[in-house]
This record gives sequence, C-alpha cells and structure tokens, in this order.
Amino acid sequence: MSQTPKRLFIKTYGCQMNVYDSDRMVDALTPHGYSQTNDMGEADLILLNTCHIREKASEKVFSELGRLKQLREDRAEQGKTTMIGVAGCVAQAEGDEIIARAPVVDLVFGPQSYHRLPQLVKQASEARVIDTDFPEEDKFTQLPAPTKKATIARGLTAFLTVQEGCDKFCSFCVVPYTRGNEVSRPVAQIVTEAKGLAEAGVREITLLGQNVNAYHGLDDAGKDTGLGALLVELAKIKGLDRLRYTTSHPNDMDDALIATHRDLPQLMPYLHLPVQSGSDKILKSMNRKHTRASYIAVIENIRLHRPGIAISGDFIVGFPGETEEDFCDTLSLIEHVGYASAYSFKYSPRPGTPGALMQDQVEAKVADERLQRLQALIKKQQAEFNQQCAGKTMDVLLEKPGRLPGQLAGRSPYLQAVHVDADPGLIGSIVSIRVKSIGPNSLYGELL
Ligand code: 5AD
Ligand code: SF4
Repeated sequence: MSQTPKRLFIKTYGCQMNVYDSDRMVDALTPHGYSQTNDMGEADLILLNTCHIREKASEKVFSELGRLKQLREDRAEQGKTTMIGVAGCVAQAEGDEIIARAPVVDLVFGPQSYHRLPQLVKQASEARVIDTDFPEEDKFTQLPAPTKKATIARGLTAFLTVQEGCDKFCSFCVVPYTRGNEVSRPVAQIVTEAKGLAEAGVREITLLGQNVNAYHGLDDAGKDTGLGALLVELAKIKGLDRLRYTTSHPNDMDDALIATHRDLPQLMPYLHLPVQSGSDKILKSMNRKHTRASYIAVIENIRLHRPGIAISGDFIVGFPGETEEDFCDTLSLIEHVGYASAYSFKYSPRPGTPGALMQDQVEAKVADERLQRLQALIKKQQAEFNQQCAGKTMDVLLEKPGRLPGQLAGRSPYLQAVHVDADPGLIGSIVSIRVKSIGPNSLYGELL
C-alpha cells in the first residue's frame, strides 16, 4: 500500500467493544499512512463500525450509507476518491445484503477480520470486497499495539477487550451469531497491553467482553485463568489505579471473581449485571439459564463482599409472551435490588434468533408503555442512589475540563460523572472530594 498520507474517518455505533475495535482499526491502518480525522468530508476512507443488537441500530447504518452516497459524489466532483467500508456486527450478519443494497460500499468485513484491514483496503481499491469469515488465526496477535502517542490522545481511561463472543444463546440475542463462540485472550497478551496503556498514562482500564466474566484465558504455564485471577494480575501493574469490567452474565459470577470485589482496592465498586426480566417464566423462554432467585442470591453475595457497591443492569420489556403480571415481576425485582443505573430496551425481534419466531409477540403500544414505567422507576432509583452520596467523601479521577470555567470533570468509583472546581494541572490525578450537591446527571464536589 502507498505511504502517501491519507485521512480516515470512523463512525462507531453500539457498545464499548466497538469503541475498542475502532481504535484498533485506526492502529492497524496507522503504519499504512492513514491518520484519523473527525471531518467526514476530508476522509479518503470512511468506515462505519456497526451494531446489530436491535433493529434501530442496523436501520441507522442504511440511512447513513444513503448520506454517504452524496458525500462521495461531491468529493468525486473535486477529483477525490472515497472508499467506504462497513465493519462490525451488521457487516457480519448482513454482509451480502449490504453489498446488494448499497452500491456505495466498497468493503464489508466482520469483527474477526480487523487484523486484515490494510490488505482488505488494498483489495477494495480494485474490486468490492466482503470478508465475514471466522479465521483460525488469532486476530489479537496480529493487530499492532497502539502507539504511545495514540494512547495518550485517547485519554486517561481505556477499554481492553479480554474476551469475545458468547456461548449462552439467550433467545433474543444476535451476539452468538455475529461475534461467534466465546474466545478468551491469553493472560500474558492482556497484561502486556495493559502495561503499555499504563506506561502511556492510562489510570483506569475497563476490561471488555460480550460475556466478560466467562473469561477463561491461559497463563504462561497453560493454566486456565478466570476473570478474578486476571484482575489480580492486572492490579499489580504500577500506575493502574482503577479496574472495571463489563458486561457479565449472572451464572459466571464465580467465587474467585466475587472475592476480588472484597480484596482488590483497584476494582471499582460498580457492577453491571444484566438480568433482562424479573419473571421466571420469561427468563426461561429467554433461555437465560438463571432464575429471579438465583440472580438475587448473586447480588446479595456481592453486596456481602463489597457493601455499598453500585449495581447496574439491562432490562428488556415486551419479550414475546410477557404479560402484565410478568412485567410487574420485573418491576418488583428492580424494587428489591435497587439499581444505581440501568439500561432498558423494548424487545426487538432479531432475524435468526429463536425469539423472532415465538408466538405472542407483544404489541408495540404495550411495550412502549411498559418501557416508560420501567424507566421511571430506574430514574427514581438512580436519583436516590445519587442523593445518598450528598456530603460523602469519595475519590474522583479527574479526566478533562468540566462544563463551566474553572471546573474539571471526572468519574466517581461508582461511575457517576463528577464536576469539581479544580486547577487544570490536576487532570490525571485521583483526588479526594466531598459531594456538595447533586444534579440530575452528575455530582458536584469540592476538593478536600
Ligand atoms: N431486543 C432488545 N434488547 C436487546 N438486547 C439484546 N438483544 C436485544 C433484543 N433483541 C439488550 C439486552 C442486552 C443489551 C446489550 O441489549 O438487554 O443485555
Ligand atoms: Fe447475548 Fe449476553 Fe445472552 Fe450472550 S449472555 S446471548 S451476549 S444477552
């Protein structure tokens, strides 16, 4: 590939794993003369890193491609060529359809092909390319590490994918099809990447995986290592003061992992543990493989080990067969657990998943109304969680300038946004603050 400077624009949809992947795509193309731009109009290569989890997510991709057609024509009038690629889970699931429906697209490639990106771009300059295989080779050993400069530019917090894919097959979910089986990266590979991040000044790492607590990587001796033991290794890295992980399945919260919430001060007191529904009947037809009671037992055990931990979750309303009674079971579970935050979604039938074929699909109007009721309850709980922080002291990692002059913004251990009056020289520090007041979406604190 020619080394003439080229501009690359990546638009990222969906989850944090896609954010991580987009950075790795930039890292893969950097040695080939590409630099990232935030201005789509000046990009020689435009990549859409897509999400397929819900219907709206993939619709957005097709409407964006419609807009890109015009942009490409405008650039062509100025004598410039523009290559357009679609990556991520829509590419994986609907690659052929994208090629057929969107002639503007030159290149379609799935999440397991990112290490081949420079080669795919080269091929696509000659003919349209589609690559959605699950290759044998290890993507992560072939993807170049980010440069120190790139890591510094990305800030004080970083994502690190340790596991990909899912073997659980919840009946609503496309992930096992788009991301494939569970695969865990070896411990040493992850530790090396984390050390590189810490050396470039990163102070907080969030370990990522579609099913991150199902992590079972091999250590140098070939021994199977769970997420708890991996966290213990990462906590030894100098400069890495904060660790988090997401997203987890209740059945994979094993004792070793739960113990780290008690034993590792670096592991932040925040756990995202999706439950989806509070009705045993719905959990069964969702193929979640856990019950309402077993979920509650896990939460109670975690709270025993780490009192005060912030719990967050994911909920789906309107799954096929969900009656008002089932939905009320979800509300009562939320009341019982008490969430610091949560994400909630209206069920979206995904082609190829068992849920899409189920009888008793719930009317959109009913699902909308349930979603509103659920979100009102979560909003109330979130406000209560924030309110009980008033007057408390907590550590905040100051990350960037805040909204108002003289303010810096950062995150509390519980992942709340915090604004503090502080000198810009403190960016990058973890400071102790007292919570002075509570806004709708953030806390305001004073330095101690
Ligand atoms: N419809 C609605 N929400 C979904 N999720 C996953 N698949 C679907 C679907 N088909 C939600 C789940 C999951 C989160 C990432 O997205 O709550 O935990
Ligand atoms: Fe999807 Fe999560 Fe269920 Fe796996 S565990 S199938 S990623 S919802």
